[in-house]
Amino acid sequence: MNKQVAAAAFTVALTIAAMSQVAGQVVGQPAAPESGGGRGAGRGGAAPGNGRPAAAVNARPAAYPDRPPADPAVVERGKAIYGVQCNFCHGSDARGGEGGPNLLRSELVLNDQKGELIAPVVQNGRGEMPPFKLNPTQIAEIAAYIHSFKVGGYDVSRMTPLSILVGDATAGQQVFKNMCASCHSVTGDLKGIASKITDPKALQNGWLMPGGAGGRGGRGGASPFNVPPTTVSVTTGPGKKVEGRLVRIDDFIVTLVDSDGAQKTFRRDGDNPKVEINDPLKPHKDLLPKYTDKQIHDLTSYLVTIK
Ligand code: HEC
Ligand code: HEC
Repeated sequence: MNKQVAAAAFTVALTIAAMSQVAGQVVGQPAAPESGGGRGAGRGGAAPGNGRPAAAVNARPAAYPDRPPADPAVVERGKAIYGVQCNFCHGSDARGGEGGPNLLRSELVLNDQKGELIAPVVQNGRGEMPPFKLNPTQIAEIAAYIHSFKVGGYDVSRMTPLSILVGDATAGQQVFKNMCASCHSVTGDLKGIASKITDPKALQNGWLMPGGAGGRGGRGGASPFNVPPTTVSVTTGPGKKVEGRLVRIDDFIVTLVDSDGAQKTFRRDGDNPKVEINDPLKPHKDLLPKYTDKQIHDLTSYLVTIK
């Protein structure tokens, strides 16, 4: 735990140090934190005549939004929420690859200022991404955290500690009893789970969100788990239901693939037509907002011992 706190503090210190730097770092050139550097100069620093070597300026990727650095306390809160809710699909460095896309290359994230564009995606869900019950303040904090990557420079986020086995396995066993044992058993369905999935990070992603983190191929692809897909039934008229695997749902449409493999899309207008979603992973999605960071680490440290 101490290690974890120290690591987090270290990352924040780095972020702050990098945030107060004006121009991008050249790879291989050590970063010397500058206290007096004009903050917020971010992309503006690319303007010629600011006394910086052109090479350093050019090393900065184009199209960086010019954002004033956020309050470190806000960024830290955002980091904590991100770590629990978003990390395992979008990656600890927000570059994706765990089932969710790279957020640092997302147009939407790029154009977002304070979470206003991120909020609808988070609150409504999108595609394979489940909706989250987070309020606008929490989303603004997550946004501040994600944006701090951009302001802070590319290399900062690369320094997050690699090991996720920083928890206490004994405490993790207790967490398992309290939160998982009603549906699973380490001598039953989860027997040998750590032999099946040997990479601790994949294992953690796997229990946090068995369907979402299985790999880029999405469901069924590289996932070691065989989680049944989410299905949906749409009542199109009295006693008339169309059922199938859910492809996409938002406020306006719902798309499914029926048992014949035909894709069907229906317009939605409030509760019309009636749509019922059956998601086998609903229990997991409901649990997601409930884990603390410590529980996640402890539980993963426990599950790696289930060989
Ligand atoms: C279960 C995996 C999963 C989790 C957890 C998750 N996402 Fe996503 N996210 C996705 C996927 C998959 C997409 C792509 C959805 C699509 O467009 O079909 C996505 C898309 C997004 C987008 C839109 C990117 C774009 O360019 O359109 C944003 C923003 C985003 N996620 C933010 C978050 C935040 C913030 C959290 C945490 C609160 C989060 N996500 C949690 C899987 C996830
Ligand atoms: C209310 C029931 C419920 C609870 C509580 C629950 N799960 Fe699950 N879990 C499921 C269902 C349903 C699936 C879907 C796949 C299946 O049917 O095995 C699943 C799938 C999984 C999988 C993928 C296994 C596989 O063989 O497909 C893992 C790993 C997992 N859960 C771990 C956990 C852990 C760890 C906890 C506690 C933090 C937990 N679950 C809590 C119901 C639950």
